Amino acid sequence: MIDTTNFPKAKVIWYQGKFHDWSEITLHSMTHALHYGTSAFEGIRAYPTAKGPAVFRLPEHVDRFLNSAAVIKMNPPYGQEEITQAILETVRRNELDSCYIRPLFFYSYGNLGLVPKASPAELVIAAWEWGAYLGEKASAGVSVYLMPWRRVHISQIDLRAKLGGVYVQSTICGLMARDKGCDEAVFLNLEGRIAEGPGENIFVVKNGVIKTNSRSESILEGITRTSVLEIAADLGYKTTVGPIAKDELLAADEAFFTGTAVEIVPIIKLTDGSDPADPKEPVALGNGRAGEVCGRLREAYLEIVQGRNSRYEKWLTYVSA
Ligand SMILES: Cc1ncc(COP(=O)(O)O)c(C=O)c1O
Repeated sequence: MIDTTNFPKAKVIWYQGKFHDWSEITLHSMTHALHYGTSAFEGIRAYPTAKGPAVFRLPEHVDRFLNSAAVIKMNPPYGQEEITQAILETVRRNELDSCYIRPLFFYSYGNLGLVPKASPAELVIAAWEWGAYLGEKASAGVSVYLMPWRRVHISQIDLRAKLGGVYVQSTICGLMARDKGCDEAVFLNLEGRIAEGPGENIFVVKNGVIKTNSRSESILEGITRTSVLEIAADLGYKTTVGPIAKDELLAADEAFFTGTAVEIVPIIKLTDGSDPADPKEPVALGNGRAGEVCGRLREAYLEIVQGRNSRYEKWLTYVSA
């Protein structure tokens, strides 16, 4: 049996139209994507509701998934409806109430030139129970390391796509931040302003105004980010979208991450490692504790994803339907 410690409750995996036992799925080691990161992926969550598990913003995730596949020039063997049904069936077959869902398109086995001309695009969908991405204590606030490496720039690759190879920067910097004793990394963009985390968007709060940046700042405009902007406005907060200077983050009353995996997590401490010649001591962000605005948004978000706010039913796809 394969070790499933980090994939709790995963039983079966969908691969090219069929379910396979989690322990039995195999791929050839000359699979193109394994060598060059030639894949497109999504990160989706399903939550328990009174009507059984529901997937949060599934159509938006499937759209982004297909767009990512188009950016890496795949001719996907499955379309919107088939992928949607396969995702729902994967949650059902694994009997998951609450889970993380990972669909992955990848160039498979066929040739190993950089151009995958004989390697077909294949699809795999996995689901398992995944708790708090940055650990159970993250809701009380996390520490971040401001990276010396600048975020991949918007002029270099289409950042609307979630492409495997592009995430090697996220992995390296996520490891480096942890080596520095922090919970997560934060990137500056090439312009020297705040970009995003390795898999998270960033918000700041100043004098009651909630602000995040946009794609021109070299970020993935996350689905959680868009949702949080809408929820915040509905709660009566003033929101704004624009560039975030490093000093703005340092002087913010509150800062927080958003993302499917991380959900909404306060950032309470920052170590500025952006200039290796001038390393800085960690500083508190805001008052160094989880902020009130972030707390309200987090609470509202968790209610919404669990189907406890009828106004946002539009964002839920029930697994049993
Ligand atoms: C680089 C990056 N930024 C931001 C996000 C947050 O996006 P979402 O809210 O759609 O999960 C993600 C996760 O998908 C990401 O990988």
